[in-house]
Amino acid sequence: MSNETLIEELGRAQSLVLGLAEDADEQTLRAQYHPDLSPLGWHLGHCVFTDCLWLHEKIRGDDSVTAPIANFYTPPNVPKHERGRLLPPRDALLAWARELQQFNLHYLRNLRPEWQAHPLLQDDYLIHFLIQHNSQHYETMVMALTQKALAEFTPETTAAAPLEAAALRNERVDIAAGHYRVGGDQPVACDNEVPRQHAVLGPFAIARCPVSNAEYLGFIEDGGYRRSELWEDQGWQWREQHAIEHPDHWRRGDAGWQAVGMRGGYALAADEPVSGISHYEAKAFARWADARLPHEFQWEAACRIGALEQTGRVWEWCDNLFHPYDGFKPFPYAEYSQPWFDSRHYTLRGGSLHTRPWIKRPSFRNFFEADKRHIFSGLRLVFDESTHA
Ligand code: AVJ
Ligand code: FE
Repeated sequence: MSNETLIEELGRAQSLVLGLAEDADEQTLRAQYHPDLSPLGWHLGHCVFTDCLWLHEKIRGDDSVTAPIANFYTPPNVPKHERGRLLPPRDALLAWARELQQFNLHYLRNLRPEWQAHPLLQDDYLIHFLIQHNSQHYETMVMALTQKALAEFTPETTAAAPLEAAALRNERVDIAAGHYRVGGDQPVACDNEVPRQHAVLGPFAIARCPVSNAEYLGFIEDGGYRRSELWEDQGWQWREQHAIEHPDHWRRGDAGWQAVGMRGGYALAADEPVSGISHYEAKAFARWADARLPHEFQWEAACRIGALEQTGRVWEWCDNLFHPYDGFKPFPYAEYSQPWFDSRHYTLRGGSLHTRPWIKRPSFRNFFEADKRHIFSGLRLVFDESTHA
């Protein structure tokens, strides 16, 4: 990948972040639409701050942009609910962001040789990192806009084609027992994907596609949210406490179920992967289906041999906790992965419709706590025995 191609891709990722902020009015930029999510304006500022932190403060020791705003844009120094109030006015924020994004691209195209020699720029590592950082915050901004749309949504009384439940498709691919290589390589891979690992897997069968909306409706209509025996204790407690009865992004009107995205309501396509469910819900569905969630190494091994379809439409919850690989070293900073190896975060694989292609690689590991469902998350089933139903 040439240096210019990478800089262009960074420019695209920056523009996506900026574009969502430009589309928002003053109030929308500052509002907090979900307890776990920052205001849109903060995401823009944090991305520009992070670009400058690495490109100027770390590479050439110039902290004139970053020092005054470091506290505000370094999580978790300022609580999310205070971030909106402390943001600069919309016009000032956007003008500042546009100027620095342009400046940073120009700077990367005209690096002095002594800066180019910095270890963080070897193999364009930093450009790869910043592309992915902007892209991940872009997806989080789409999550926030989805929450805004959900809050403002009134179900339509006439839906064109209401979703109907369907039986499980049971299309499985047998994966032979064996030794598989998982993990990625720098400069593209994040710290949590390296070094490459050697996975010894028993035989298993994995669903060709993630669980669809129609299949998921089958679970709902079969009392999936009412049958405690399908849930683990913690998951059932969570379900009871929050009265969870359907995916976060689904709403029921007179005409049946609809989905809500950042641009409002839309018909749920029967064969599209279900999205907006927690790890608890994914586990209950898997138990209902007499199946399991994949271990992330099963997912990656199956993905690498071309066994999986419809990857990159939803993040797919895995059975295992997010954990450091053997030989893990935090990079480029301790907080990217290390704090989240806390036995509370589970791994997700694949990527969603809002994930940049760059991140949709077989080795990429996303991670969230078991109750999170404001994310674009679904599941894929695995079966211990490779016998077809
Ligand atoms: C890996 C998506 C959970 O958005 O919180 C962004 C990525 N890390 N800035 C997040 C991240 C630092 C992270 N996720
Ligand atoms: Fe970040």
